[in-house]
Amino acid sequence: MAHTPSDPQEGQQVGDEFSDVEDIEDIEEINTLTELGTTLIQAILEREPLVNIQDLIDAGAPLWFQDNEGISPLYAAAYVANEKLVKIFLADGAVWNAVDNFGNTAGDIALSMNDEGIYNLIRDAGIRSELLLTALSSGSEPPQSSSSLIISDGDISAVGSTDAFLASNLQYTVDAHGQEICLLKLEDGSTVGVMMGWEREIMSRTVDELCSDHPRLEGGLRVLNVGFGLGIIDGFLQRLPKPPSLHVIIEAHPGVLAHIREQGWHQRPGVKIMEGKWQDVVQRKEFLDLGRFDVVYTDTFAENYYELYKFFMLLPNLMAGPEARFSFFNGLGATNALFYDVYSRVSECHLSNIGAHVSWSNVQVDGDRDKERWGETRKYFTQPLYHLPIAQLKQTV
Ligand SMILES: C[S@@+](CC[C@H](N)C(=O)[O-])C[C@H]1O[C@@H](n2cnc3c(N)ncnc32)[C@H](O)[C@@H]1O
Repeated sequence: MAHTPSDPQEGQQVGDEFSDVEDIEDIEEINTLTELGTTLIQAILEREPLVNIQDLIDAGAPLWFQDNEGISPLYAAAYVANEKLVKIFLADGAVWNAVDNFGNTAGDIALSMNDEGIYNLIRDAGIRSELLLTALSSGSEPPQSSSSLIISDGDISAVGSTDAFLASNLQYTVDAHGQEICLLKLEDGSTVGVMMGWEREIMSRTVDELCSDHPRLEGGLRVLNVGFGLGIIDGFLQRLPKPPSLHVIIEAHPGVLAHIREQGWHQRPGVKIMEGKWQDVVQRKEFLDLGRFDVVYTDTFAENYYELYKFFMLLPNLMAGPEARFSFFNGLGATNALFYDVYSRVSECHLSNIGAHVSWSNVQVDGDRDKERWGETRKYFTQPLYHLPIAQLKQTV
């Protein structure tokens, strides 16, 4: 049967033939890369000489490759404790934060083997990568990158997007173990605690570090807290030996705001509830007219590191001089030791950039009563130690 060239059928067939050829070429390339990647990982695990490994890399073995178990060349190098290979791979762009099927990175493997040298190399590569990505963003949303862990994760669910979170329904409840929870139900039916009673110890220690020996405590501190949740930290602030002279709470979620009202927080002396996202509230004249604060704390939800970074940038205008103290809920990345370390150190670098010094202390987070802590909710903090930051602006001459 003859077809005219304009026959869409014919065009379709020719196109299909081309795409078939392209598909075959793609499959062949994928097979080659898979074979090279697998051979490279085997060579590393079998401790073959560097020259063999270099030959494989020169032949095109991809450093980003991960086998069926999620093992990458960097991971394999950490596993056989080959510091030289780790250095080469990181310098050549190996993905520092790739996880295996159990959620472990090459850095976690080094940590589990007490290999401080390799762990530090991988962690520092992570810190450099995240600092660079934040710097590149220069005021706009940060670029997405496969090697970017923390700056922006593109999650649009109620856990990762403020707008979706603010439109969600929250439930204030007490779980089977008597723990108070502000609960968010996700679309997939799972639940996650926006705030959970087990964090009480962290909040108590935070208030202690922020306020107990604050030189202006006697006069009543001027306090700013962003994010009410269960009001745990606000409760501790109110129970200071001398209650705050001004206690500003910024809160955005309508359900939390209703709870604040029900609990009578509006009637408490010195308490000022400012409704809305902190990103908007801090620009309002009503807020700016309040002046600066002796103590600033932030603990929001569904926000990525980039939002925290933006909050850091406001601190020189929020804090009342070098005696003022700042802390934040340091929970990002806290389901993985390496990521938690990188988050903590990146935040310290960024705070240093605005002229703040950070001191850290540890709070033991109970690992024995894990079931009681989480119930059926999603775990968001699995590290045994909470790293509690306290930042103060350095004295300027
Ligand atoms: C983890 S809870 C805070 C818990 C609190 N530290 C406590 O001790 O109970 C986070 C709170 O931040 C609020 N929030 C989230 N994003 C916000 C934003 N952009 N501006 C203001 N509040 C926000 C949430 O509605 C929630 O009440």
